Amino acid sequence: MGIFKISDSVYYLGVQDWERQLFDELIPLPQGTSYNSYLVKGSEKTALIDTADPTKKDMYISNLKEINPEKIDYLISNHAEQDHSGLIPEVLSLYPDTKVVTNEKCKTFLMDLLLIPEENFLVIKDEETISLGDKNLKFYLTPWVHWPETMMTYLVEDKILFPCDFLASHIATSKIISEGNELLLESAKRYYSEIMMPFRVSILKHLKLLDSLEIKIIAPSHGVIYKNPSFIIDAYKDWVSDKVKAEVVLIYLSMHGSVLKMVNHFERTLIRKGINYKRFDATRADIGEVAMAMVDAATLVLATPVFLSSPHPNMAHILSLINALRPKTRYLALLSSYSWGQRIEEQIKNSLSSLKVNFLGSIISKGYPKEKEKKEIEELAEKIEKIHKEDEFVIK
Ligand code: FEO
Repeated sequence: MGIFKISDSVYYLGVQDWERQLFDELIPLPQGTSYNSYLVKGSEKTALIDTADPTKKDMYISNLKEINPEKIDYLISNHAEQDHSGLIPEVLSLYPDTKVVTNEKCKTFLMDLLLIPEENFLVIKDEETISLGDKNLKFYLTPWVHWPETMMTYLVEDKILFPCDFLASHIATSKIISEGNELLLESAKRYYSEIMMPFRVSILKHLKLLDSLEIKIIAPSHGVIYKNPSFIIDAYKDWVSDKVKAEVVLIYLSMHGSVLKMVNHFERTLIRKGINYKRFDATRADIGEVAMAMVDAATLVLATPVFLSSPHPNMAHILSLINALRPKTRYLALLSSYSWGQRIEEQIKNSLSSLKVNFLGSIISKGYPKEKEKKEIEELAEKIEKIHKEDEFVIK
């Protein structure tokens, strides 16, 4: 895909990455991703907003050469992570007089990560504006909307917001400009769950800033550009709110069938009671699907055998991810089986120490579940049913 204009003064010169399957060597990218970059031409000066991942150097530089700006006065770096900043040195080698415009923290990151000399930078502060002649770029610092140095750029006259990773999605597409649809919502939710969910509180604060801006187009640095900003802003307002949905996320793993019997009995009880749930096999599940389910579910139920004296390593892997993502889940319960010794409840609680959950209890069976454990499982489902009906934070 080549370059195109998104407004009279703004070119898109990003690159689609159809092949990429993993981000951070962890997160599955079933739809690939893109590295979006924009060139803003004012009457006097030209600015480039973000670059692209170094793996796409040839394609990105071809796009830049196709526009062939006489000069690039400013290269705006909204975020130091290399999928956006990685080609700054390449651009500087083509345009050595270009100033890299960013905030103080991002400057220090770029100096360390990419060895860009300090004299190449023009440091801006929150709400500072630079003029391109007839166009003005205004910067809003958004610390901890992902990284501590992240910021957004707003093209005042065209009312275009460039929020970099914020409000983005991992999708490679030939239809880059969109009003939003169900499929895109799914991509954006997956992206939010994997990248942005740990920063829910900070995002909530910065969404209020967006309400104060008049925005016609949201042009992030991954995925689609939104012609209908409220599509993605409203979705974020929903995801970051304190409300959860009356739903159970059931993540399980069974080695010899005992836990599976417990899980199946629990599932039958949930179905009988009409309680919504999503079920994931910890060994085989797409962790992106698990993360998405954790965005708004009220209750997490884990089911794992004791492996030596701990949760099974595959479950431990998922727990470490959930703990890092810090979902707003309100309730937690545990099903487990063992043969010869267990301290699993304590270990599970410790593994999820960053979650603010109410613990509903453990049901731990020595080998196959007997009538006692089956009854306890039914009682757990009853408890969840009651809580989901009575908790004011649960959307029924
Ligand atoms: Fe898309 Fe935080 O990089």
